[in-house]
Amino acid sequence: MSINPLPRLLASLAIISLISAAIWLLLPRVSGLPTVAPLHMILALGVMPLILAAMAYFIPVLTRTSAPEPRVLLSPIGALIAGLLVTLSLSLSYTLYPVAASIALLAIGRLLWWSQQRAKATLGRPHPGLLWYQLALGALILGLLMIILAAFWPEQWLPLKRLHLHLNILGFVGLAALGTLRVLLPTVGGFPDPQAGLWLMKEWRWLVAGTLLIAIGAAWFAPLAEMGLLLWLFSLVRLIRGLLKAHQGKLWQWHGAGISLVCAIMGLILCLLSGALHGYGLLPTSQAGEAFVVAFLLPLVTGAATHLLPLWLLQSQPEKQQQLRKQLGYLSAVRGMAFLLAGVLTLASHPLAFLIAIAALCQFFIQLARPLAGIAIAGKSG
Ligand code: HEM
Ligand code: HEM
Repeated sequence: MSINPLPRLLASLAIISLISAAIWLLLPRVSGLPTVAPLHMILALGVMPLILAAMAYFIPVLTRTSAPEPRVLLSPIGALIAGLLVTLSLSLSYTLYPVAASIALLAIGRLLWWSQQRAKATLGRPHPGLLWYQLALGALILGLLMIILAAFWPEQWLPLKRLHLHLNILGFVGLAALGTLRVLLPTVGGFPDPQAGLWLMKEWRWLVAGTLLIAIGAAWFAPLAEMGLLLWLFSLVRLIRGLLKAHQGKLWQWHGAGISLVCAIMGLILCLLSGALHGYGLLPTSQAGEAFVVAFLLPLVTGAATHLLPLWLLQSQPEKQQQLRKQLGYLSAVRGMAFLLAGVLTLASHPLAFLIAIAALCQFFIQLARPLAGIAIAGKSG
């Protein structure tokens, strides 16, 4: 019987992204490196391959087709290489970054093409979540093309860079995360949610329009960005209000993945609101990327890992999976709130932000370390 290597790769990439977050939090403080290189360690080396691997994992579920062929793994692995190269390039020499972007483009294009093959092979219509993944990949392709163009068109460097970063942050990470969260939250909370499919079918239009308005507005005409922001905010507030009104008891708990994911949505709302301020120079833009990682990505990745790591590490051992979920989700409300507080303090450039974020991340690492060592030992002796 052949073993599907994707869950193991996903577990490794989730752990790599959390470790790169810890290095990202510590490195600029001890090395004096410009922050943009460590920021790409978490965004391009940590998060980009993880999202691509998660898409490869979920697309067969969304299209009701067979498990992915091993060569699909080339996409997240290619993205990992590109992420490593761009981090090095932004630390040492900018001449290499277009090569990194080109490798990433090949990896992403390959995954997009594969997702379309799977869409065609679906019996009936694919789940609407597939379109969200394809739109997210489209935004990442556009974002990377913009930053390649910037290398050859230095007069337009700043607007093209602003297009790159807003398309990647909101279009790629934002759409991929929300498309997954909308399905993951009911699973994690253990409640049926007939609204999820409907929300996914309707809401993407507003978020795609909002992302384009923010990206184009940030590049050339700030009032457009404010209109895009309103579209994003209306969608997210509708989402969180609907979820908490109907399922508050299942999600609003001290422990478990659900509350962490709810904190991530609140963190995203915080970052969007701060966008309105940095767009008009009322907040320094240097804090925006950091706040996005601390207030949104960290509760998102720790929350998703709480539910999914046990599934990926302990395939076909449901009892052990449940036990590990309990261990990882212990006091996740406190962890999630700590990330949110650290996000607010980051925006205010307060030095305590870093300490709170690192403490919350360490709490997750401590809860993960023992079970992970146990699984590794069991794997070796088995
Ligand atoms: C191989 C892939 C990538 C390449 C080659 C790349 C390249 C670049 C370059 C050259 C810059 C400008 C650096 C500067 O201003 O000195 C930049 C900025 C930025 N990129 Fe990327 N990037 C990649 C992936 C990503 C991803 C996946 C994300 C987010 C999910 C991202 C988010 C950002 C952000 C937020 C900034 C602005 C940082 C700041 O000015 O504070 N990038 N990128
Ligand atoms: C949610 C995460 C966001 C992050 C991480 C982020 C990050 C950034 C960064 C790093 C810059 C500076 C680029 C540079 O000039 O070097 C910037 C500029 C800008 N952003 Fe955002 N942004 C976000 C959301 C938003 C939102 C929601 C809006 C909508 C109002 C927005 C509007 C703008 C505008 C108008 C600029 C140009 C500012 C200027 O002219 O100085 N951003 N953003």
